[in-house]
Amino acid sequence: MCGIVGYIGHKPAFPILIKGLKRLEYRGYDSAGVALIESSDLDIFKKKGKVSELEKFTETNSFKGTIGIGHTRWATHGEPNDRNAHPHYSHDQKLAIIHNGIIENYGALKTELTEKGYEFRSDTDTEVFITFIEDIKKSLDLNLEDAVRVALTKVVGAYAIVIMSVEEPDKLIAARKGSPMVIGLGQGEYYIASDATPIVEYTNEVVYLNDEQIAIISRENLEIVDTKDVPQEAEIHKLDLKLEAIEKSGYDHFMLKEIMEQPNSIADCMRGRLNANEGLLTLGGIREYAEMITNAKKITIVACGTSWHAGLVAEYIFEDLCRIPVEVEYASEFRYRNPIINEGDILFAISQSGETADTLAAIELAKSKGAFVFGVVNTVGSSISRVTHEGAYLHAGPEIGVASTKAFTAQLTVLTMIALRIASKKGTISDSKYRELLVDLENIPGKVAKALETDKTVREISALFKDAKNFLYLGRGYNFPVALEGALKLKEISYIHAEGYPAAEMKHGPIALIDENMPVVFIATRDSSYDKIVSNIQEVKSRKGKVIAVVTEGDVLIPKMADFTIEVPSTHEALMPLVSVIPLQLLSYHIAVMRGANVDQPRNLAKSVTVE
Ligand code: M6R
Repeated sequence: MCGIVGYIGHKPAFPILIKGLKRLEYRGYDSAGVALIESSDLDIFKKKGKVSELEKFTETNSFKGTIGIGHTRWATHGEPNDRNAHPHYSHDQKLAIIHNGIIENYGALKTELTEKGYEFRSDTDTEVFITFIEDIKKSLDLNLEDAVRVALTKVVGAYAIVIMSVEEPDKLIAARKGSPMVIGLGQGEYYIASDATPIVEYTNEVVYLNDEQIAIISRENLEIVDTKDVPQEAEIHKLDLKLEAIEKSGYDHFMLKEIMEQPNSIADCMRGRLNANEGLLTLGGIREYAEMITNAKKITIVACGTSWHAGLVAEYIFEDLCRIPVEVEYASEFRYRNPIINEGDILFAISQSGETADTLAAIELAKSKGAFVFGVVNTVGSSISRVTHEGAYLHAGPEIGVASTKAFTAQLTVLTMIALRIASKKGTISDSKYRELLVDLENIPGKVAKALETDKTVREISALFKDAKNFLYLGRGYNFPVALEGALKLKEISYIHAEGYPAAEMKHGPIALIDENMPVVFIATRDSSYDKIVSNIQEVKSRKGKVIAVVTEGDVLIPKMADFTIEVPSTHEALMPLVSVIPLQLLSYHIAVMRGANVDQPRNLAKSVTVE
């Protein structure tokens, strides 16, 4: 949530900041702003709305300053307006700050500062934060980095901040705790950002700042200290990120690009790990821990949103194939409900961004109780990838559309590979079934490509239902989490109320909602609960519900009952979610586009939820 960028070097900072903010806009789009030092003045320009509004607002200026910071906001404290937009000045307007995160003790700090005579121009915790730094700087007569360091020992909460001062115009101070921050290394220049996407076109050498580290950045030098002023090593990493991966490449929306990319992203996820011909499945991350996972009495999975849905599918797969009991928990509930975690327990944390605050907190809690934590993460170098004991990356490439699509299928792919590896080691599946599933998994990219060919049919169905007020999504077994995922996709980008339910649960309540105006999406592919779901379809039809059924190619029964059918290729039922989710992603996409919604940046949402 919130994107931050900074630049110090020899080039004009403004265009670099604007371009960077556009790349980070998926993290928040309530307002945008920049601070620059122009002819010895510290100027701030900020505007409610998207980065394009800020561009319009500043179009008559020609900025030459070579140091600056920029911010795109997802509002936490104070409504989204010009006043609350970042950057914020200190009271004397000599300092400017951008901030991603929440300062939890800002109320107490504000009272203290108000009693000292400070006044505030905004409703934000961030303005309190920078005023607090100003006060420390003045009262203790400190330079900027020392004032920031002292302030950081007294604030409670999460932050990624970058600060500049008109009195020390050749340096930026950056710090983080709980919110991400990457520093790109150029020639006599440094780039700072919430993630690597604004940096990759300038340099592929980066340093990931760790929690409670402070970077003092001048044109020629990067120095890192901790909050006790102890020097820290700046470990340089090489970025493995291509510019094309973060551009729309001719698609109208990132979401559509990412849906269409899935045959490749799933193949990338398996590349070098799976060779069905030779019966090989190697995941570096689990090699050392395979024995431990094989002997696990229980596995707990924590995640949020779509990643939680991937966790639910994993529950079915692990229990089915490995015979290991699995509990899937919302990270936000797990962290606050005093869960029973014992020394040596195994916890899987699933996250696309690797920055989700609740998932991070759940990991810390589990670690503090002695659990072994394994991460299933997409974003390389992200916080979750660094705090987990081990993990497996998705290798799905950057996901920029707020609605998660290719990360979901990559999560399922990685989790299935792990389950197969463990099941084979544990002997809970026969060798022939193992080999058969490896072949089926290897064939999934082709089947997903086939499922994407339903696009035209799905678009036609979307046109008929785009004005519906509600949708019900029903599935059983492996397709139950897919029903939840389909409903989440629809509500988050089209703003149509949708509920996902296990199909058989319908008669315990939701059936009361069914009439001729209720579209019901059944995920009814041929599997062990096929006959049961056929009965559920009949129950809906006899109440005049409109049935849209996702079925297996060649099904002759359900098309006779359903109002609309969408055919997907057949595969093993454990792998079916990888295929059956595709038309649901397309359905939500087309309906949202037809309703004129902003697909990539749905209202009130942000791509990575770094606040709890
Ligand atoms: O980055 P994460 O996978 O940890 O994010 C979890 C959720 O915030 C995310 O899946 C969210 O629900 C998506 N917008 C769903 O499309």
